[in-house]
Amino acid sequence: MRAHEAGALHGELGLRGPAWLRTPEDVNALVPQLWPRTVVRGPDGALTVGGLDVRDLAREFGTPGYVLDEADLRARCREFRAAFPDEDVYYAGKAFLCRAVVRIIAEEGLFLDVCTAGELAVALAADMPAERIGFHGNNKSPAELARALDAGVGRIIVDSDAEIDRLTALARERGVRPRVMVRVTVGVEAHTHEFIATAHEDQKFGFSLAGGAAAQAAFRILDEGVLELRGLHSHIGSQIFDADGFEVSARRVLALQAQIRDARGVELPELDLGGGFGIAYTTQDDPATPADLAKRLRRIVDGECAAERLATPRLSIEPGRAIVGPAVFTLYEVGTVKPVSLGAGVDGADVGRTYVSVDGGMSDNIRTALYDASYSATVASRPSSAAPMLARVVGKHCEAGDIVVKDEFLPADVQPGDLLAVPGTGAYCRSMASNYNHVPRPPVILVGGGAARVIVRRETEDDLLALDVG
Ligand code: LLP
Repeated sequence: MRAHEAGALHGELGLRGPAWLRTPEDVNALVPQLWPRTVVRGPDGALTVGGLDVRDLAREFGTPGYVLDEADLRARCREFRAAFPDEDVYYAGKAFLCRAVVRIIAEEGLFLDVCTAGELAVALAADMPAERIGFHGNNKSPAELARALDAGVGRIIVDSDAEIDRLTALARERGVRPRVMVRVTVGVEAHTHEFIATAHEDQKFGFSLAGGAAAQAAFRILDEGVLELRGLHSHIGSQIFDADGFEVSARRVLALQAQIRDARGVELPELDLGGGFGIAYTTQDDPATPADLAKRLRRIVDGECAAERLATPRLSIEPGRAIVGPAVFTLYEVGTVKPVSLGAGVDGADVGRTYVSVDGGMSDNIRTALYDASYSATVASRPSSAAPMLARVVGKHCEAGDIVVKDEFLPADVQPGDLLAVPGTGAYCRSMASNYNHVPRPPVILVGGGAARVIVRRETEDDLLALDVG
């Protein structure tokens, strides 16, 4: 690495501060907003969650593993319920879904958004009342739609003309009148990674507002009368911190609502503004609380409804990440520690970072490789008084991009056998996990009430071979 590149590396890290400004105490400290709320360092400096020592969890359940703090998950559900008492909160199951989580969110009074027959099957297997389920997806098959109708899901968010054709035919056959919402592409450029922004015009989701397709879809459904149009839906993207996008989206979608009223004399009773509320992955992220969000969204919707002289529709939202993301950390074991010199920095001093390999990687957390996402990490099995060093946490896969945490300060004495915890991995990590390199997917361990239990078991080599029928 040339000097200016090494300087750029330091620049890249500028936000997180250089290593020499860090103390061992900083490196051991747990920044509360990053961790499930029962996680603390116990008396001898190892992490505990719900009062249980992570070393015991690792011994009993192995590593890597996703550790889900039940108290934290329930607290987040309650905060959303309390902040949105007159609205419906749909947990977006794509973030992470298994039967135990369905039961928890149902007990906490949430509704559920699913987007495939597979997610629907998990929800129904956990006795989620079908009328509290919303069904999403840009390419729902006739079989999936039939399944949703037969189960009696509360609403289907329609996404294309072909889907309206299919659903209309299925509803006629069954003599039922499914409740639907029209997914509107509002043309908002959300400030998030391109792959997780969903409301700009040039992508696959929804009916375009600007092109008139959204209005046409609504008119068609109202005119045909086979489906019951409950409202409009907009989801602008994911990991969003700035309320401006929601404001523009609400304004545009309510203008369409007013257009529908003017053209057809119908005021749609519901409005869904989607999910996408950002969470803290590093100390640089400063997410809004559910109470803040509720205040802002209500102000936006009330203001726009007043401007359009509309009665305020019943609002619903669909948080996934903000419910389950911060409730989980991944527990890994360190396997190798490899210092890599990057050459002389601008001041002539050697610049380097240390690659800390763990026993998982891009198969249990693809987000760093796919979205350039940032994470944090700490040594979980002990405190350390060693000096901080710049580290990169990488996995065990045959791919150079197999990075879990791009930059983190870890103690310089980190060594094979140490446990490493990465917080904020509850959303889109297990649900997007793969078997790349035939690495079995890790278990999900639920910690609550002073005990730990497996809610999704670890995959085994037998599981992998069971699919390989020779
Ligand atoms: N509603 C709809 C219609 C959605 O498409 C999504 C996410 C959500 C709600 C929930 O969004 P959340 O509150 O969890 O941000 N795999 C990406 C995220 C993809 C999100 C897909 N849709 C990631 O790992 O960041």
